[in-house]
Amino acid sequence: MAQSALKRLAAEAALAHIEPRLGRKTLVGVGTGSTANCFIDLLARVRHKFDAAVASSEASAERLRRQGVPVIDLNAAPALEVYVDGADEVDPQRRLIKGGGGALTREKIVAACAGEFVCIVDDSKLVSQLGAFPLPVEVLPMARGLAARALQRLGGTPVWRQGFLTDNGNIILDVSHLRIEDPLALEREINNIPGAVCNGLFAAHAADLVFVAGLQGVRRI
Ligand code: 5RP
Repeated sequence: MAQSALKRLAAEAALAHIEPRLGRKTLVGVGTGSTANCFIDLLARVRHKFDAAVASSEASAERLRRQGVPVIDLNAAPALEVYVDGADEVDPQRRLIKGGGGALTREKIVAACAGEFVCIVDDSKLVSQLGAFPLPVEVLPMARGLAARALQRLGGTPVWRQGFLTDNGNIILDVSHLRIEDPLALEREINNIPGAVCNGLFAAHAADLVFVAGLQGVRRI
């Protein structure tokens, strides 16, 4: 089965997971990327189960609106039931590397506002230890050199994602060769680099549930 078909299978599992909450608005947080796009394209089918969505990127907001889904600002959302998003890597503890699409900062913010973080991936994203995928770090443009040198001192090889600016107007450094033995400690250490806005390690707030699509079907981690 093609990878795109597996992504859609994982998205369908997340769709079936959405349940309306009685007595209050049901708001769904929506991630960014090709797997999240599969989820967005299915969302209109369960429009009766939720009131509105909060998007983790301008691209996802635009795609949601095209599907007829109302998109609201996070500051207007008291609480999200669930946040659904893809990932670049998933380890057995449901810790993630995200940010291949450059939306990591907003993704981390929206995920933090949700009662449940549901990750949807095909099984090529499963790893025993995070770090083969270069870790995206969002950095203020003026801090590019400083942050790159700090990331080198951590053992990484940062590469500037040239020609790309995040929705927040910042740059991305993609960092290879990091030994990520303690994802939580590294997430915190990188957060302490002056000018680093956010990094793509989701360890402090890992996924609560991962739907993994493979040739045998969808399983939960
Ligand atoms: C975007 C992300 C994506 O979730 C991640 O890159 C996975 O993307 P895809 O579903 O296209 O494989 O973190 O910032």
